[in-house]
Amino acid sequence: MNILVIGANGQIGKHVISQLKDHKEHAVRAMVRKQEQADAFDGAGVEPVLADLEGTVSELAEVMKGSDAIVFTAGSGGSTGSDKTLLIDLDGAVKTMEAAEQAGISRYVMVSAMHAEDRSSWSDKIKPYYVAKHYADRLLESSSLNYTILRPGGLLNEPGRGKIAANTEGNEKSIPREDVASVIVAVLDAENTYRKAISLVSGEQSIQEVVQNI
Ligand SMILES: NC(=O)c1ccc[n+]([C@@H]2O[C@H](COP(=O)([O-])OP(=O)(O)OC[C@H]3O[C@@H](n4cnc5c(N)ncnc54)[C@H](OP(=O)(O)O)[C@@H]3O)[C@@H](O)[C@H]2O)c1
Repeated sequence: MNILVIGANGQIGKHVISQLKDHKEHAVRAMVRKQEQADAFDGAGVEPVLADLEGTVSELAEVMKGSDAIVFTAGSGGSTGSDKTLLIDLDGAVKTMEAAEQAGISRYVMVSAMHAEDRSSWSDKIKPYYVAKHYADRLLESSSLNYTILRPGGLLNEPGRGKIAANTEGNEKSIPREDVASVIVAVLDAENTYRKAISLVSGEQSIQEVVQNI
């Protein structure tokens, strides 16, 4: 598969790129929004493409051409306001879904957030973020795309453990970013994960085993 990673300069995005860069079955392109980020990827042997989620659907569809699958792992981050949450996490995400449909790409993997589907568990502090994730997920679910929505718990910057749990309500609430990236790579061509939303935390089973049993 030819995969376009949106949010490739982000923390999960960089793990996804490094796992896909030398993959036997996949080729990867990194979508970034700044020339210096593109230059860094080019030097590292990954084809960069420049586009901004605040751009138009047509611009996004243009950079998607030739891809078989889209990975969305972008986000406005914690240091911007609710305006950017709306523009990136909601409208930016939805524009990429429209662009994928326009470009004839059917496979789409979304990094959402744990409990995005459940309004009763949204903390007041970051409610706009959950609203954005919730409606982006709902629009993806009503699209024609073969999506997989991944809903990780709190993201950790520590080495991947390779062991996860899916769709559980245990004590574990977090997961290393590297493991989320490994799940993204594992679900890409796993048809049993199409049109499903999966919550993710660290756990006891191997990623391969969990993905096979979704
Ligand atoms: N933090 C958590 O605990 C948590 C939990 C569950 C899910 N998530 C979700 O997990 C995903 C990835 O998280 P992360 O920590 O890897 O995120 P991150 O490091 O903040 O990366 C987000 C990426 O999105 C890019 N981006 C922002 N605005 C853009 C725009 N207008 N056009 C193109 N790209 C843009 C950023 O580009 P620049 O590099 O140029 O800034 C950045 O590379 C996000 O969707 C996040 O909401 C987070």
